[in-house]
Amino acid sequence: MSDPILAIQEAREQARELGDPYVDVCFLATASAAGQPEVRAISLRDIDIAKGFALLISELSPKWQQLTTGSCSLHMLWTTVRRQYRVYGRFEPMEPERLQHYWDRKVHASRLLEHYYETFHPQSHPIASYDTLLEGIDALRQRYPHAETVPLAAALRGVYLYPTAIDVWHGSPADRLHDRHLYTRSETGWSSQSLVP
Ligand SMILES: Cc1cc2nc3c(=O)[nH]c(=O)nc-3n(C[C@H](O)[C@H](O)[C@H](O)COP(=O)(O)O)c2cc1C
Repeated sequence: MSDPILAIQEAREQARELGDPYVDVCFLATASAAGQPEVRAISLRDIDIAKGFALLISELSPKWQQLTTGSCSLHMLWTTVRRQYRVYGRFEPMEPERLQHYWDRKVHASRLLEHYYETFHPQSHPIASYDTLLEGIDALRQRYPHAETVPLAAALRGVYLYPTAIDVWHGSPADRLHDRHLYTRSETGWSSQSLVP
């Protein structure tokens, strides 16, 4: 049985070559404490064959609270290669050096925003206006005038979604008879089951 994560990685590279605008984006679904579904776009940092789907999330955000206390799933849609993926699994912490690697790739303002969450208001907290945000960012910019001077934000978490099940939809636009498989991971590896599309 071929590894579905490897196949996703290959499809992503193919989609990138075809100019797919969403190769670096996925959608994370969680549920609030009241059971309300919550879905949001998240940058897909990497796909690691052994570890899974790499994401960066502030531990001060509502989604962090939701994914550490309940179940979640990840969704990807790359139309250039006619693939949809629904990924289920558990979160595993990222190695500190890997988190540092992604931090080093962040632009200055993005680093300052992570510090804004810790210094002023957490992500998704209501504020008076956009200017309120900019004032806080300006204050942080005076403290850390260059990207290299911004220390790694303590509340930023790197995580892998380690998949235990993946629903792969491979579109067949000509006849609409799409090819769909549910891959399930056990201790001995992956098994696959065809699904009605
Ligand atoms: C293309 C795109 C990429 C995004 N990437 C991230 C991300 O990597 N991490 C993140 O916390 N929010 C990201 N966001 C913002 C989220 O969609 C969302 O607005 C935010 O995480 C809200 O947090 P909450 O769901 O915890 O309330 C991204 C939004 C877009 C449109």
